Amino acid sequence: MQSVGITGTGSYLPENILTNADLEKIVDTKDDWIASRTGIKERHIAPKEMPVSELCYQAGLRALEDARVAPEEVDLIIVATMTPDYAFPATACLVADRLGAKKAAAFDLEAACTGFIFAIATASQFVATGMYKTVLVIGGETMSKILNWEDRSTCILFGDGAGAAVLQAVQKGFGFLSFELGSDGSGGKLLSQPAGGSKCPASLETVEKNLHTLQMEGREVYKFAVRIMGDVSVKVLEKAGLRKEDVDLFVPHQANTRIIDAAVKRLGISPDKVVINLDKYGNMSAAAIPVALDEAVKAGRLAEGDTIVMVGFGAGLTWGACVLKWTKVGLKA
Ligand code: ACO
Repeated sequence: MQSVGITGTGSYLPENILTNADLEKIVDTKDDWIASRTGIKERHIAPKEMPVSELCYQAGLRALEDARVAPEEVDLIIVATMTPDYAFPATACLVADRLGAKKAAAFDLEAACTGFIFAIATASQFVATGMYKTVLVIGGETMSKILNWEDRSTCILFGDGAGAAVLQAVQKGFGFLSFELGSDGSGGKLLSQPAGGSKCPASLETVEKNLHTLQMEGREVYKFAVRIMGDVSVKVLEKAGLRKEDVDLFVPHQANTRIIDAAVKRLGISPDKVVINLDKYGNMSAAAIPVALDEAVKAGRLAEGDTIVMVGFGAGLTWGACVLKWTKVGLKA
């Protein structure tokens, strides 16, 4: 099997920023409450007319430029999203068309906030087996479009954005060393968008009852997240034959600083090795991890040979993690 790594990253955040102070004018909340319970101070919100495919296109373009790959060279595009432009066609097809990635196969993958981890695990199999040379993986969300802006317990948490990574063959010993994925559908009701699918098709009644918006049992999701983030990080490191001391950078899903702090404590990683940007972006679901990774790369926080752990959790319930030995140098075809 071929070793597979990330040879380019990119991200895109819509310009408009919604601060906690702005939210105080919309719902009964306080900046203090949001900041102390979640760590979030502001989030980016896409304009009404901007679909998620636009965010994904911008992030994908930047990742391709970073990897010095032309759109025509891309073999496959996977978009991880729970807020696609349409139920069908797939957002990935629209992004491929926008990019001019003429030979690329394209599909969407839905694993909510764990979507990017599931997508890179999937993409890496195509490269490892030699079926494809270049795969563009994008995590993008317009969470603002599925929120109930009258529900203070959820609307304060999320933001919009997209992050992308180019996966290609790399030198042996580098790239992805292990993946750990999981799901538990018995917890599906804890976090869902109940209406608009085949179980509860759209109707006047579903719209009146706000059933097309995100519904969450926050406390239960919190307990699950704290437990699973620590467990899956330990497992994925064991699989790679590494110890917590070997971790140079920890890139967790950005939902809540208290959840991240608990996972970091459990692992015993030094806080300066942890990437946190949720104060600026809120929870961007599948976009959170790739945007955090891209920012860490651009800030010079990664050197050749560094060991990265990325870990996520989300609706489904789903969870996933990977260990990556960093190099941006792809093997020549
Ligand atoms: N402003 C002020 N008060 C609020 C707000 C708000 N925005 N929201 C809730 N409250 C109130 C509640 O009404 C409650 O009041 P009560 O005690 O009088 O009933 C009180 O604050 C406490 O509410 P809790 O829900 O218990 O607050 P908690 O400390 O659990 O924090 C939070 C809530 C931040 C949502 C937390 O539970 C959490 O982070 N959960 C995990 C969420 C998550 O990570 N979701 C993403 C999953 S990833 C995906 O796939 C999308």
